[in-house]
Amino acid sequence: MSLKITDNVDYVGKIDWTLRHFHGEQLSTSSGTTYNSYIVKGDKIALIDTVWQPFADEFISDIEQTIGVNDIDYMIVLHAEQDHCYTLGHIMKLRPDLPIYCTANAVKSIKGYFHNENWNFNVVKTGDKLDLGNGSELTFIEVPMLHWPDQMMAYYEKDEILFSSDPFGEHYCSEFMFSEKVDLSELEHEAIKYYANIVAPYSNIVKKKLEEVLALNLKIKMIAPSHGIIWTNPEYIINKYAQWCNSYKENLITIVFDTMYKSTHKIAKAIKEGIIAQDKEVEVKMFNSATADISDIVTEVFRSKAVLVGSPTYNSGILHSVAGLLDELRGFRLTGKKAAAFGSFGWANMNIKVLTDMLKSAGFELFEPTGIAINWNPTQDNLTECRQFGKGFAEWCM
Ligand code: FEO
Repeated sequence: MSLKITDNVDYVGKIDWTLRHFHGEQLSTSSGTTYNSYIVKGDKIALIDTVWQPFADEFISDIEQTIGVNDIDYMIVLHAEQDHCYTLGHIMKLRPDLPIYCTANAVKSIKGYFHNENWNFNVVKTGDKLDLGNGSELTFIEVPMLHWPDQMMAYYEKDEILFSSDPFGEHYCSEFMFSEKVDLSELEHEAIKYYANIVAPYSNIVKKKLEEVLALNLKIKMIAPSHGIIWTNPEYIINKYAQWCNSYKENLITIVFDTMYKSTHKIAKAIKEGIIAQDKEVEVKMFNSATADISDIVTEVFRSKAVLVGSPTYNSGILHSVAGLLDELRGFRLTGKKAAAFGSFGWANMNIKVLTDMLKSAGFELFEPTGIAINWNPTQDNLTECRQFGKGFAEWCM
């Protein structure tokens, strides 16, 4: 696929419509993804990034039919993760002399994957420029940990395009590669899902880097990320990132639980009734972590001001779908969110302690009392108690 972005820039990436899981099976994609690669043309030609393994042969064939691999003068690696860098191996097989421009950390990642010490690496830092001739110049900006230590962006002043790598991307497909041509609410949903599941652990770095990049006063007409759509209204996604990186929360409470014989499910429903009775404005969403999509749950937790997490006691601990979710949330290092635990138990009242310990280590502020545990199958009195717990929790979150 080749698509003209400007007179000097072509899109040569690949659209992966059928992909439903990313990072192996770790992360769901609702509508596939794209692996974005760009050609920037001055007197010299630069290729920015490549594509993931299933599209490697097609990618090389496309390049051969457009500019030709032999006509590439510079290879720019913004990020060495294999979704963007896999086909670098194919390119280097055809052009072992090709100069690669990347960060010092990217050299380590690339050598780690390809085990090739002899490639022509040219290490760049923030502010370094690559002159392509005819007024075309790329300026590099290091953005380590967004999303790997090796990450950088490239700014193309001539057409005011910021090639942003992973940040500002989405796992989203459209034949219309520009934000002005796609459904903006659908696009924002995918952008926040991507932020919550990939970028959120580095929110403190996003905040710092956003300030740094904005202080450069670059004129940005387009943001061209490595996944998804090219933003032709860059201020829209920049404003969203400024909100999302700053302990983001909406007036939303998410209840997540797993259940064996519906006791914990009944408690969840009673707590939800209590929240709604207390606060007519708050939105409440409920998920069974064993059956719902974990990446979608993470997205809703990211949007929430508070979460309630439930599991029965199981083998002196909790059910694995809840434990897995809480461990996932620990890695996301979310800030400014409140939480409480709930669940049923039979002969061992242990679930609340395990749940609250995990919530605490994931950075949540805990409600007092930290949780509600109901013995065996809840009675009507127990459910009234759960509604009261929900009311108290909602009041604390208001
Ligand atoms: Fe899309 Fe961090 O790679």
